[in-house]
Amino acid sequence: MQKRTIVHLLILSGLVLAGLCGCGKQSGPPGEQTAGSTEQGSGAGESSASGQEETAGEAEYFINGAGAVVWRGKQLTIGFSQIGAESDWRLASSASMEDTFSIGNGYNLIFDNAQQKQENQIKAIREFIDQGVDYIILDPIVETGWTSSLKEAKEAGIPVIVVDREVRADDEDLYTAWFGSDFRLEGDRACMWLKEYLKQSGWKKRVNIVHIQGTIDSSAQIGRSQALFDAAKENGWNLLRSSCGDFVQAKGKEVAETALKEFGDEIQVFYCENDNMAYGAIEAIEESGRKAGFNLSEGEILILSFDSAREGLEYTLSHQIAVDTECNPLYGPALSRLILELETSAAVSKKNYSEEEQFSAYESISSLTVDNQDLPVTMITPDLIKKRIY
Ligand code: AHR
Repeated sequence: MQKRTIVHLLILSGLVLAGLCGCGKQSGPPGEQTAGSTEQGSGAGESSASGQEETAGEAEYFINGAGAVVWRGKQLTIGFSQIGAESDWRLASSASMEDTFSIGNGYNLIFDNAQQKQENQIKAIREFIDQGVDYIILDPIVETGWTSSLKEAKEAGIPVIVVDREVRADDEDLYTAWFGSDFRLEGDRACMWLKEYLKQSGWKKRVNIVHIQGTIDSSAQIGRSQALFDAAKENGWNLLRSSCGDFVQAKGKEVAETALKEFGDEIQVFYCENDNMAYGAIEAIEESGRKAGFNLSEGEILILSFDSAREGLEYTLSHQIAVDTECNPLYGPALSRLILELETSAAVSKKNYSEEEQFSAYESISSLTVDNQDLPVTMITPDLIKKRIY
């Protein structure tokens, strides 16, 4: 198992210590300041009244109630290249960045939506360099093809923070830090849940799986797909088909419709690499006269999904999604703390993983051992869904 940094613990540790010494300010416990924490009320004014301000050079800053760094006396210009708006997850990620890097919080955010095109991201990076931004934040659509852009930014002396998806390891020296999800672990958790479910439910036949993939060559697709390929091999599962649905609901539905027509009653499982494609698959299953649910021997289809967006959790509560493995899009506050570390010259960890959960309504599986770690499976409740902000 790779040595990992859980970003909220390390990045906050200095701030927590400062707070304990009475020389800094932290508005909430560290646990509330992960990428998964609430961001409601991240407006700058809200926590300043209660906050003691810390200084960094001439400027002052404090951490607001959402865990975001708020600057006074300076403004940081951030160029953010976002992939697009393909999913609920992506919309939540954009909102998190906009809430955090607001004018009121002391930032000038230049937000570029690349409309799912790498060439647009490359163009945006060049424009950010021309504009002389303080930081570039890049969410790369795919892992390859970034060397020249990252070199250009490095030559211009602009730190690049990669977020969510990764760029290929060969380019690691060319960016400052990465913050995101362990997609392989997410996939391993989903597959381990399936393995345990099949065991507990006494399913004896070879299980047939339809696999709806996200954007090919994106880190989220690579990690989640590889986990399934390895688990299928290890457990003798039959992958009927792997097809790309690009993380989009309508495309997920199309892939599911085609598979249902071709394989009909043979299908027991849909492994959907995000929630939106799972919503599409559920529509297709229902329109075909079948049901998404736990009861395989009654012909129901088990859906495995990722993201744990609010609607995904609602489907989990109603058993239409059997297990939803979280991928957390609320990066803004953690990124602002990473930038604070860079502004105050502290060394930052190169790779920073966000902590994630897994949700199901199937009570007999409450934890799983994956990669030698015991990881909980949280039972979904209406209350949890109410608190979900994406
Ligand atoms: O890169 C993260 C993935 O991209 C999310 O799982 C998906 O919903 C999104 O579009």
